[in-house]
Amino acid sequence: MNTIPNHVAIIMDGNGRWATERGKKRSEGHKEGAKALERLALHAEKLGVKVLSVYAFSTDNFKRSKEEVDYLMNLIIYYLNNKLQTVVDRGIKIVFSGRKIGLRDDVIAAIDTITDKTKNNDKCILNICLNYGAQEEIVDASLKVADDISTGKLKKEDLNRDNFYKYLYQDLPPIDLLIRTGREHRLSNFMLYQAFYAEIYFVDTYFPDFLENNLEEAISYYQNRDRRFGNVKTD
Ligand code: FPP
Repeated sequence: MNTIPNHVAIIMDGNGRWATERGKKRSEGHKEGAKALERLALHAEKLGVKVLSVYAFSTDNFKRSKEEVDYLMNLIIYYLNNKLQTVVDRGIKIVFSGRKIGLRDDVIAAIDTITDKTKNNDKCILNICLNYGAQEEIVDASLKVADDISTGKLKKEDLNRDNFYKYLYQDLPPIDLLIRTGREHRLSNFMLYQAFYAEIYFVDTYFPDFLENNLEEAISYYQNRDRRFGNVKTD
């Protein structure tokens, strides 16, 4: 199987440890992580990946210190407003998954601006998961389903695992390859519905050090997997 995965997702972990091990503040790690994200988005597009989803901030990340949360939000605003021009110019459409409620007004404004600016881009989609939790997404989708059933827009018997995607934050294809950097082996409430048959690639490298060639290594791993989707091998 030499196909490029259609949808790649990354749990960008290890920014804090990258910084601490270098005697730097955790915020330095996030800054380097943002640079890594920009590089990887451009490279994913070049390789022919159609959707790249990244875990930028989970609903649970609000438990971190106010200083760290503020730093991350300011960094994200700075990137959305100033730094992602290369990504925009490359024809990448930027969308967001997560709850807007709980985000600062200036973060929402930056999200809305870049969403609008890139809405007609059609090269590849960068899905930034921000104030995101997969269980929250499934609950929020279920509430939308309930609304559609109660208003008669959807018949109960017509709901199935394929059209449920339309109720998620973004209607994206299933994840083919899920990468987690930073040595931990867990899913941390990330895109659980969409990852139902994803090949999972755990790598020790901290996210700021995860370069273009590391993405290619992850894709090679994917290409060597035998994806059976519950079937048995016939040849
Ligand atoms: C996890 O590492 C990383 C995060 C919580 C933040 C990820 C955010 C970015 C890479 C910047 C995103 C930028 C844009 C423009 C969307 P950690 O802090 O949990 O690392 P640790 O486990 O080593 O402490």
